[in-house]
Amino acid sequence: MQAAGFRQARRPRQTRMAKLKRELSWPRPGGIAITLAGAGLLVTGALNLPSSADSLLPSAAAAPATSQSSTTPDTAAEPASLPLSTGPGTTPLAASQQGAEAPSLLSGAGNSLSPLPKVTATPLIAGSAAGSPLQELFASGIALPMEKALWDTNSAASPLVLVNKRHSLVPQQYVPTDLVAPGVLTGSTEPPLLRAEAAAAAERMFAAAASEGINITIKSSYRSYDTQVSVYDGYVSAKGVAAADSTSARPGFSEHQTGLAMDIGDANAGTACDFASCFASTGAALWVAAHGADYGFVVRYVPGEESVTGYLAEPWHLRYLGVSVGQDMKVRGIHSYENYSGLPAAPDYK
Ligand code: DAL
Ligand code: ZN
Repeated sequence: MQAAGFRQARRPRQTRMAKLKRELSWPRPGGIAITLAGAGLLVTGALNLPSSADSLLPSAAAAPATSQSSTTPDTAAEPASLPLSTGPGTTPLAASQQGAEAPSLLSGAGNSLSPLPKVTATPLIAGSAAGSPLQELFASGIALPMEKALWDTNSAASPLVLVNKRHSLVPQQYVPTDLVAPGVLTGSTEPPLLRAEAAAAAERMFAAAASEGINITIKSSYRSYDTQVSVYDGYVSAKGVAAADSTSARPGFSEHQTGLAMDIGDANAGTACDFASCFASTGAALWVAAHGADYGFVVRYVPGEESVTGYLAEPWHLRYLGVSVGQDMKVRGIHSYENYSGLPAAPDYK
């Protein structure tokens, strides 16, 4: 079922308004263009996005030169499942909406994006702040596939759930219902598990990276509450509470428990830099920083955002937020989900 109020853009007639709509629209993930209503909002939009999204992304610039087309997922070849269609009662995006064009906002027309509208009406995403970029993205009609029940940053089962030191999972013992093992390289004895849509996205992403000689592995993915108890307690025993809290979430406060997060390794680089700051220089880290958003994954803990996320940088920790959100964060140069959803920083536990 398509979300009420949004529709796929049709070929416009040659009227002034249609021309304006075409000029104000841009290809979005899955080939969706903004509707006439969205174009009207854009006219009044007042955000100041930089003219070149790439200029915001030094990590992308540092990545090995790759062809955009070879690193974006072939949405046309996929069954209708992009993006953010996890969760009970969710209807996947129709195949006709996905389109065959490169979904990246950063290629071609992506460098001349019009700003999304400021949104001041009732928040569309429960739990997030009115006027936040997350609200603006959904107000534009871009992120269609989720049913409204999942437009929520509080619910553990929502792909948009925000988890940090100020937002525990509710309930803290939450267990996802659709965990599956992605068919990807593993770099650990821990069996890889992710929620179904994140697993499918990971398979596409790992395959794209592998086609460019980057062999990403999963080191850790879904962790239950009890597993997180062991992980966190291990850090506390080894380093004390303060140091543990800078790198490991307390049980009930970890994104790993959502089934939407994973820690990656680089098979080419060996294990010396696993879970270490030098991982940032590996091919895998550079590749996911540059291309992860095209598959819905963002590097969740980046340098410079420690006081917002509450954690030291982890270039290996990826969070699945879906292609629309991932690419929009990248285009806007927003590097924390806290800021993207307009919610308070979480430097510590309350
Ligand atoms: N290392 C991240 C913060 C976690 O434990 O979830
Ligand atoms: Zn992690």
